[in-house]
Amino acid sequence: MSISKAANRNVTSQNSVFQRLQIQRLLAATQIIAPSTGSDVVKGLTQTSKSLPPCYFYDDRGSELFEQICDLPEYYLTRTETTILQQYAGEIAEITGACELVELGSGSSTKTRILLDAYQQLGYPLHYLPIDVCAGMLESSAKQLLRDYPSLQVCALAGTYELALAKLLPTQLPSRMVCFIGSSLGNLTPSECNVFFSQITEALQVGEYFLLGVDLRKSKQILEPAYSDSQGVTAAFNLNMLEHLNQRFEGNFDTTQFEHWAFYNESEHQIEMHLRSLRSQIVELRALNLKVNFALGETILTEISRKFDLNILKQQLAAQGLSPLHVWTDPPNQWFGLLLCQLQA
Ligand code: AVI
Repeated sequence: MSISKAANRNVTSQNSVFQRLQIQRLLAATQIIAPSTGSDVVKGLTQTSKSLPPCYFYDDRGSELFEQICDLPEYYLTRTETTILQQYAGEIAEITGACELVELGSGSSTKTRILLDAYQQLGYPLHYLPIDVCAGMLESSAKQLLRDYPSLQVCALAGTYELALAKLLPTQLPSRMVCFIGSSLGNLTPSECNVFFSQITEALQVGEYFLLGVDLRKSKQILEPAYSDSQGVTAAFNLNMLEHLNQRFEGNFDTTQFEHWAFYNESEHQIEMHLRSLRSQIVELRALNLKVNFALGETILTEISRKFDLNILKQQLAAQGLSPLHVWTDPPNQWFGLLLCQLQA
């Protein structure tokens, strides 16, 4: 083939990728991580039990470390959910019929491909609407998907779930399924969880679907190593939050003077991730005009990761009008659950 023909063909396929891609930015670049410009950090670090919002995990380095966590031998969550999806995506597609796939926190879209393959195999049109705060990540993963699925249409929304769910336009397909997989529900407190479910019900029409992946309750012998891995990747992920705050708010956290600490709180059924101060120290965040005293051994709660009981969760969803149609797990362990719900009138 001549060089100009090859170049032409490349331009044509690039064009068709661009023609099938729309990205709507709902946030200005400065608002992408933690739109509150640090008031949440001030609040968290000035209360008696210190805490920081988990959104500060995810700068570029934090997102990279999270990808590494997903591949760790101790971190069974990603692997197990992927296996369930591989086994049952066809069944999910048969139940829902042709529908637009809306994915919250799409990340690198790896699990999305399993669903797209299932809908494609049944001959359904592929409409994908990923939602993520990171526009760059949305664009790069959407372009890769568009190259691999020639009939796919992508309409991406860059913004928070709340903003994006409130902005969904009516779908051109017979139905829609909002997917919230990866057990990110576990990172919300019970009251945040209720608010989130009501945002989902507002975004859906009666008869439309909600696909939810959650980590289930199990022994602390399995849970704790998943959040304190032997290679120290989760520790690096946790400590990176301090580096991120240093960069963002002109801070002077010394990460050698804090350590990662994660444990399973059995009465609350949640992993709690903390950063523990290794000495008494004062840390300054100049851009926030904030000085924080730490006692030796004092901790900052950086994340909760709740573990669910399927029956209780099904009742909560049903109480919000999201009626569970089907639950798939991973026999014989039953470590992870995938729930398909439908919005009732
Ligand atoms: C994103 N989320 C579901 C992870 C979890 O398991 O709660 C975040 C994580 N934190 C430490 N390891 C993984």
